Amino acid sequence: MTKNKTKNCKGKSHNHPPISFPFVSFISSVSSSLLFGSGFAANQDLKFHMQQGYGENREAVFRARGLSKVYRMGDVEVYALKGIDLDLYSGEFVVLLGPSGSGKSTLLNILGGLDAPTSGEVFFRDHNLVGAGDQELTRFRREHVGFVFQFYNLIPSLTALENVELVTEITEHPMLPGEALQLVGLSERMHHFPAQLSGGEQQRVAIARAVAKRPDVLLCDEPTGALDYSTGKLVLEVLEHVNRELGTTTAVITHNAAIAGMADRVIRLRSGEIIEVHVNEKRISPSDLTW
Ligand SMILES: Nc1ncnc2c1ncn2[C@@H]1O[C@H](COP(=O)(O)OP(=O)(O)O)[C@@H](O)[C@H]1O
Ligand SMILES: [Mg+2]
Repeated sequence: MTKNKTKNCKGKSHNHPPISFPFVSFISSVSSSLLFGSGFAANQDLKFHMQQGYGENREAVFRARGLSKVYRMGDVEVYALKGIDLDLYSGEFVVLLGPSGSGKSTLLNILGGLDAPTSGEVFFRDHNLVGAGDQELTRFRREHVGFVFQFYNLIPSLTALENVELVTEITEHPMLPGEALQLVGLSERMHHFPAQLSGGEQQRVAIARAVAKRPDVLLCDEPTGALDYSTGKLVLEVLEHVNRELGTTTAVITHNAAIAGMADRVIRLRSGEIIEVHVNEKRISPSDLTW
Protein backbone atom coordinates (compact mmCIF):
# COMPACT_ATOMS: atom_id res chain seq x y z
CA MET A 1 0.00 0.00 0.00
CA THR A 2 1.29 3.47 -0.81
CA LYS A 3 1.98 5.58 2.23
CA ASN A 4 1.55 9.26 2.75
CA LYS A 5 3.78 11.15 5.07
CA THR A 6 2.27 13.95 7.06
CA LYS A 7 2.99 15.81 10.22
CA ASN A 8 0.78 15.88 13.23
CA CYS A 9 0.33 18.88 15.49
CA LYS A 10 3.40 17.93 17.48
CA GLY A 11 5.55 17.98 14.40
CA LYS A 12 6.19 14.22 14.45
CA SER A 13 6.19 12.45 11.13
CA HIS A 14 3.84 9.54 10.67
CA ASN A 15 3.42 7.02 7.96
CA HIS A 16 -0.18 6.22 7.39
CA PRO A 17 -2.34 4.86 4.62
CA PRO A 18 -3.81 7.50 2.34
CA ILE A 19 -7.16 8.66 3.59
CA SER A 20 -8.52 9.65 0.26
CA PHE A 21 -10.67 6.51 0.01
CA PRO A 22 -14.08 7.65 -1.05
CA PHE A 23 -15.94 9.21 1.80
CA VAL A 24 -19.00 8.33 -0.23
CA SER A 25 -18.51 4.66 0.53
CA PHE A 26 -18.25 5.47 4.19
CA ILE A 27 -21.49 7.35 4.10
CA SER A 28 -23.31 4.66 2.19
CA SER A 29 -21.99 2.01 4.51
CA VAL A 30 -22.96 3.91 7.64
CA SER A 31 -26.36 2.49 6.79
CA SER A 32 -29.18 3.43 4.58
CA SER A 33 -31.21 4.33 7.66
CA LEU A 34 -28.93 7.31 7.99
CA LEU A 35 -30.36 8.81 4.83
CA PHE A 36 -33.81 7.34 4.67
CA GLY A 37 -34.81 6.14 8.09
CA SER A 38 -34.41 9.22 10.25
CA GLY A 39 -36.25 12.48 10.66
CA PHE A 40 -33.36 14.25 8.98
CA ALA A 41 -34.16 12.96 5.49
CA ALA A 42 -35.36 16.34 4.18
CA ASN A 43 -31.88 17.74 4.51
CA GLN A 44 -30.11 14.69 3.21
CA ASP A 45 -28.53 16.18 0.06
CA LEU A 46 -27.07 19.14 1.86
CA LYS A 47 -25.78 16.94 4.62
CA PHE A 48 -24.36 14.44 2.18
CA HIS A 49 -22.29 17.10 0.45
CA MET A 50 -21.17 18.63 3.71
CA GLN A 51 -20.04 15.21 4.85
CA GLN A 52 -18.20 14.61 1.62
CA GLY A 53 -16.37 17.93 1.79
CA TYR A 54 -15.64 17.45 5.44
CA GLY A 55 -13.79 14.18 5.01
CA GLU A 56 -11.63 15.26 2.07
CA ASN A 57 -8.20 16.67 2.89
CA ARG A 58 -8.41 15.64 6.53
CA GLU A 59 -6.05 13.26 8.15
CA ALA A 60 -7.83 10.29 9.70
CA VAL A 61 -6.46 9.57 13.16
CA PHE A 62 -8.73 6.56 13.66
CA ARG A 63 -10.21 4.34 10.97
CA ALA A 64 -12.65 1.71 12.17
CA ARG A 65 -14.28 -0.74 9.76
CA GLY A 66 -16.94 -3.32 10.47
CA LEU A 67 -16.51 -3.10 14.22
CA SER A 68 -18.65 -5.57 16.11
CA LYS A 69 -18.69 -6.44 19.77
CA VAL A 70 -20.66 -9.34 21.14
CA TYR A 71 -20.86 -10.07 24.85
CA ARG A 72 -21.80 -13.61 25.73
CA MET A 73 -23.68 -13.95 29.00
CA GLY A 74 -24.30 -17.67 29.38
CA ASP A 75 -26.61 -18.56 26.51
CA VAL A 76 -27.47 -14.94 25.73
CA GLU A 77 -25.53 -12.86 23.21
CA VAL A 78 -25.58 -9.08 23.56
CA TYR A 79 -24.64 -7.22 20.38
CA ALA A 80 -23.07 -4.02 21.75
CA LEU A 81 -21.73 -2.93 18.33
CA LYS A 82 -23.08 -4.15 15.01
CA GLY A 83 -20.65 -3.32 12.23
CA ILE A 84 -19.50 0.25 12.89
CA ASP A 85 -17.57 2.16 10.20
CA LEU A 86 -16.09 5.36 11.51
CA ASP A 87 -13.24 7.80 10.92
CA LEU A 88 -12.07 10.40 13.40
CA TYR A 89 -10.07 13.22 11.87
CA SER A 90 -7.14 15.12 13.22
CA GLY A 91 -8.10 18.08 15.39
CA GLU A 92 -11.85 17.62 15.23
CA PHE A 93 -14.27 17.76 18.15
CA VAL A 94 -16.75 14.92 17.89
CA VAL A 95 -19.76 14.21 20.05
CA LEU A 96 -20.93 10.60 20.25
CA LEU A 97 -24.60 10.83 21.07
CA GLY A 98 -27.00 8.06 21.96
CA PRO A 99 -29.22 6.62 24.65
CA SER A 100 -27.91 4.42 27.43
CA GLY A 101 -26.92 1.00 26.13
CA SER A 102 -26.42 2.16 22.52
CA GLY A 103 -22.74 1.12 22.50
CA LYS A 104 -21.01 4.47 23.03
CA SER A 105 -18.64 3.34 25.79
CA THR A 106 -17.87 0.08 24.01
CA LEU A 107 -16.89 2.04 20.88
CA LEU A 108 -14.75 4.56 22.76
CA ASN A 109 -13.02 1.82 24.76
CA ILE A 110 -12.12 -0.02 21.57
CA LEU A 111 -10.73 3.14 19.95
CA GLY A 112 -8.74 3.83 23.11
CA GLY A 113 -7.26 0.33 23.24
CA LEU A 114 -9.04 -0.56 26.48
CA ASP A 115 -11.13 -3.24 24.83
CA ALA A 116 -10.97 -5.36 21.67
CA PRO A 117 -13.73 -5.86 19.11
CA THR A 118 -15.19 -9.29 18.38
CA SER A 119 -14.61 -8.58 14.69
CA GLY A 120 -13.59 -5.69 12.46
CA GLU A 121 -10.57 -3.45 12.13
CA VAL A 122 -9.33 -0.39 14.00
CA PHE A 123 -6.35 1.60 12.84
CA PHE A 124 -4.75 4.40 14.80
CA ARG A 125 -2.83 6.10 11.99
CA ASP A 126 -0.95 3.09 10.56
CA HIS A 127 -1.10 0.99 13.73
CA ASN A 128 -3.56 -1.87 13.68
CA LEU A 129 -5.00 -2.05 17.18
CA VAL A 130 -6.77 -5.34 16.54
CA GLY A 131 -4.47 -8.18 17.40
CA ALA A 132 -2.01 -5.91 19.18
CA GLY A 133 -0.60 -7.46 22.33
CA ASP A 134 -1.17 -6.09 25.83
CA GLN A 135 2.21 -4.38 25.94
CA GLU A 136 1.66 -2.70 22.60
CA LEU A 137 -1.78 -1.49 23.66
CA THR A 138 -0.40 -0.18 26.94
CA ARG A 139 2.22 1.77 25.03
CA PHE A 140 -0.41 3.06 22.59
CA ARG A 141 -2.59 4.31 25.44
CA ARG A 142 0.33 5.82 27.30
CA GLU A 143 1.74 7.68 24.31
CA HIS A 144 -1.33 8.68 22.36
CA VAL A 145 -4.56 8.64 24.37
CA GLY A 146 -5.90 10.79 27.17
CA PHE A 147 -9.00 9.43 28.92
CA VAL A 148 -11.58 11.37 30.91
CA PHE A 149 -14.34 9.41 32.64
CA GLN A 150 -17.53 10.36 34.45
CA PHE A 151 -15.87 9.76 37.80
CA TYR A 152 -12.56 11.47 38.08
CA ASN A 153 -10.41 8.63 39.43
CA LEU A 154 -8.00 10.96 41.21
CA ILE A 155 -5.74 9.60 43.94
CA PRO A 156 -7.18 11.06 47.17
CA SER A 157 -3.86 11.21 49.02
CA LEU A 158 -2.16 13.26 46.29
CA THR A 159 -2.62 16.96 45.51
CA ALA A 160 -3.92 18.14 42.13
CA LEU A 161 -0.34 18.79 41.03
CA GLU A 162 0.86 15.38 42.21
CA ASN A 163 -2.03 13.65 40.44
CA VAL A 164 -0.90 15.26 37.18
CA GLU A 165 2.77 14.51 37.91
CA LEU A 166 1.96 10.79 38.09
CA VAL A 167 1.38 10.94 34.34
CA THR A 168 4.06 13.44 33.33
CA GLU A 169 6.71 11.32 35.04
CA ILE A 170 6.06 8.35 32.76
CA THR A 171 5.59 10.11 29.41
CA GLU A 172 8.14 11.35 26.93
CA HIS A 173 7.28 14.95 26.04
CA PRO A 174 4.87 16.09 28.71
CA MET A 175 3.82 19.59 29.66
CA LEU A 176 4.89 20.89 33.00
CA PRO A 177 2.19 19.73 35.45
CA GLY A 178 1.55 23.36 36.45
CA GLU A 179 1.07 24.27 32.80
CA ALA A 180 -1.57 21.57 32.39
CA LEU A 181 -3.41 22.83 35.48
CA GLN A 182 -3.21 26.38 34.16
CA LEU A 183 -4.79 25.20 30.91
CA VAL A 184 -7.86 24.03 32.85
CA GLY A 185 -7.96 27.18 35.00
CA LEU A 186 -6.76 25.58 38.23
CA SER A 187 -3.41 27.29 38.87
CA GLU A 188 -4.69 28.58 42.19
CA ARG A 189 -5.75 25.15 43.41
CA MET A 190 -2.78 22.99 42.46
CA HIS A 191 -1.80 22.17 46.03
CA HIS A 192 -5.29 21.14 47.06
CA PHE A 193 -6.28 17.52 47.62
CA PRO A 194 -9.26 16.08 45.71
CA ALA A 195 -11.47 16.24 48.83
CA GLN A 196 -10.82 19.99 48.97
CA LEU A 197 -12.06 20.46 45.40
CA SER A 198 -15.59 20.53 43.97
CA GLY A 199 -16.70 17.85 41.50
CA GLY A 200 -16.14 20.20 38.57
CA GLU A 201 -12.67 21.11 39.80
CA GLN A 202 -11.79 17.46 40.27
CA GLN A 203 -12.91 16.78 36.71
CA ARG A 204 -10.71 19.65 35.51
CA VAL A 205 -7.75 18.04 37.31
CA ALA A 206 -8.63 14.80 35.52
CA ILE A 207 -8.63 16.69 32.21
CA ALA A 208 -5.27 18.30 33.07
CA ARG A 209 -3.91 14.83 33.86
CA ALA A 210 -5.21 13.50 30.53
CA VAL A 211 -3.78 16.33 28.41
CA ALA A 212 -0.46 16.79 30.26
CA LYS A 213 1.15 14.06 28.17
CA ARG A 214 0.09 15.88 24.98
CA PRO A 215 -2.01 13.00 23.69
CA ASP A 216 -3.06 12.79 20.05
CA VAL A 217 -6.62 12.06 21.11
CA LEU A 218 -8.73 12.85 24.12
CA LEU A 219 -11.52 10.34 24.74
CA CYS A 220 -14.16 11.47 27.22
CA ASP A 221 -16.92 9.17 28.45
CA GLU A 222 -19.81 11.20 29.91
CA PRO A 223 -17.41 13.78 31.39
CA THR A 224 -20.29 15.90 32.71
CA GLY A 225 -22.46 12.97 33.78
CA ALA A 226 -21.92 13.52 37.49
CA LEU A 227 -21.97 17.32 37.42
CA ASP A 228 -24.68 19.93 37.85
CA TYR A 229 -25.69 22.17 34.94
CA SER A 230 -23.33 25.11 35.34
CA THR A 231 -20.35 23.02 36.44
CA GLY A 232 -20.94 20.70 33.51
CA LYS A 233 -20.85 23.64 31.13
CA LEU A 234 -17.60 24.84 32.66
CA VAL A 235 -16.03 21.43 32.09
CA LEU A 236 -17.22 21.48 28.47
CA GLU A 237 -15.63 24.93 28.07
CA VAL A 238 -12.35 23.48 29.32
CA LEU A 239 -12.58 20.61 26.80
CA GLU A 240 -13.27 23.08 24.02
CA HIS A 241 -10.36 25.26 25.14
CA VAL A 242 -7.98 22.27 25.10
CA ASN A 243 -9.22 21.24 21.64
CA ARG A 244 -8.69 24.75 20.27
CA GLU A 245 -5.39 25.49 22.02
CA LEU A 246 -3.65 22.15 21.47
CA GLY A 247 -5.53 20.85 18.44
CA THR A 248 -6.14 17.58 20.27
CA THR A 249 -8.64 15.36 18.46
CA THR A 250 -11.47 15.07 20.98
CA ALA A 251 -14.39 12.65 21.25
CA VAL A 252 -17.00 13.23 23.93
CA ILE A 253 -19.71 10.73 24.78
CA THR A 254 -23.00 12.06 26.01
CA HIS A 255 -26.69 11.21 26.05
CA ASN A 256 -27.45 14.95 26.24
CA ALA A 257 -28.45 16.14 22.74
CA ALA A 258 -27.83 19.81 23.65
CA ILE A 259 -24.10 19.17 23.92
CA ALA A 260 -24.03 18.17 20.23
CA GLY A 261 -24.05 21.87 19.28
CA MET A 262 -20.47 22.40 20.42
CA ALA A 263 -19.06 19.71 18.12
CA ASP A 264 -17.64 19.81 14.62
CA ARG A 265 -19.37 16.50 14.02
CA VAL A 266 -22.09 14.57 15.79
CA ILE A 267 -22.24 10.80 15.52
CA ARG A 268 -25.50 9.29 16.71
CA LEU A 269 -25.67 5.71 17.86
CA ARG A 270 -28.65 3.50 18.50
CA SER A 271 -28.61 -0.19 19.41
CA GLY A 272 -24.97 -0.64 18.41
CA GLU A 273 -25.25 1.13 15.04
CA ILE A 274 -24.41 4.58 13.71
CA ILE A 275 -27.74 6.02 12.64
CA GLU A 276 -26.57 9.50 11.66
CA VAL A 277 -23.41 11.54 11.12
CA HIS A 278 -24.05 15.25 11.17
CA VAL A 279 -21.61 18.08 10.49
CA ASN A 280 -22.38 21.28 12.36
CA GLU A 281 -21.88 24.30 10.14
CA LYS A 282 -20.76 26.27 13.15
CA ARG A 283 -19.67 25.22 16.60
CA ILE A 284 -21.67 26.72 19.43
CA SER A 285 -19.69 27.81 22.46
CA PRO A 286 -20.55 25.61 25.46
CA SER A 287 -21.40 28.76 27.41
CA ASP A 288 -24.23 29.35 24.91
CA LEU A 289 -25.68 25.85 25.15
CA THR A 290 -28.81 25.36 27.20
CA TRP A 291 -30.63 22.27 28.38
N1 LIG B 1 -18.94 -6.22 30.01
C1 LIG B 1 -20.17 -6.38 29.46
N2 LIG B 1 -20.79 -7.57 29.54
C2 LIG B 1 -22.00 -7.75 28.99
N3 LIG B 1 -22.69 -6.80 28.33
C3 LIG B 1 -22.11 -5.59 28.23
C4 LIG B 1 -20.83 -5.32 28.80
N4 LIG B 1 -20.51 -4.03 28.52
C5 LIG B 1 -21.56 -3.52 27.84
N5 LIG B 1 -22.51 -4.45 27.65
C6 LIG B 1 -23.78 -4.26 26.93
O1 LIG B 1 -23.49 -3.72 25.65
C7 LIG B 1 -24.43 -2.74 25.30
C8 LIG B 1 -23.73 -1.42 25.04
O2 LIG B 1 -23.14 -0.96 26.25
P1 LIG B 1 -22.34 0.41 26.39
O3 LIG B 1 -21.31 0.46 25.32
O4 LIG B 1 -21.88 0.52 27.79
O5 LIG B 1 -23.47 1.49 26.06
P2 LIG B 1 -23.54 3.06 26.40
O6 LIG B 1 -22.18 3.53 26.77
O7 LIG B 1 -24.07 3.69 25.14
O8 LIG B 1 -24.52 3.20 27.52
C9 LIG B 1 -25.43 -2.68 26.44
O9 LIG B 1 -26.52 -3.50 26.10
C10 LIG B 1 -24.66 -3.26 27.60
O10 LIG B 1 -25.52 -3.85 28.53
MG1 LIG C 1 -21.52 4.35 28.57
